[in-house]
Amino acid sequence: MFQAESVSYSLRVNGVERDVEEAWLGESLLHVLRERLDLPGAKNACEQGECGSCSVLVDGSLVCSCLVLAASATDSDIVTVEGLEADAHTGLSDVQQAFVSEGAVQCGFCIPGLIMSVHDLLDRIPTPSDIEVREAISGNLCRCTGYGRIMEAVRSAVSARANTAPEATS
Ligand code: FES
Ligand code: FES
Repeated sequence: MFQAESVSYSLRVNGVERDVEEAWLGESLLHVLRERLDLPGAKNACEQGECGSCSVLVDGSLVCSCLVLAASATDSDIVTVEGLEADAHTGLSDVQQAFVSEGAVQCGFCIPGLIMSVHDLLDRIPTPSDIEVREAISGNLCRCTGYGRIMEAVRSAVSARANTAPEATS
């Protein structure tokens, strides 16, 4: 009878080395995050790279964690929605707060993936155009909101960052 080989390794997730014990070599990063490391922020919807609900950052690149073999990421820096810089009082990142304030969350299933995509966008392009926002979130499927309030939330996050950015000194 075929016996799947198991392996043990560690992953650096949100700045912390986490041990993964006796895992099947074929387990996705999404599966390991959710089922082994108690990080359920990345959601499991399609497992085919189609919906973006499982988005995380691997070495600074936005990826669908359902398409990444966890064991291939042992030398990488992985950031999940749980690892975003958060306000000490609210526990939310600025983008998360904007989504809440603008009422952009309905069932919420797509939201962690959207939050990761928007953080990735704003880190690359601090003041994106609407087209750039739409392109950045085009891989994140939301069945509930119609995207109008999501766009408002991104605009709100952009202006909040602009208002809190330190003045340039000459
Ligand atoms: S669960 Fe990964 S893209 Fe849908
Ligand atoms: S809020 Fe329900 S899928 Fe987006």
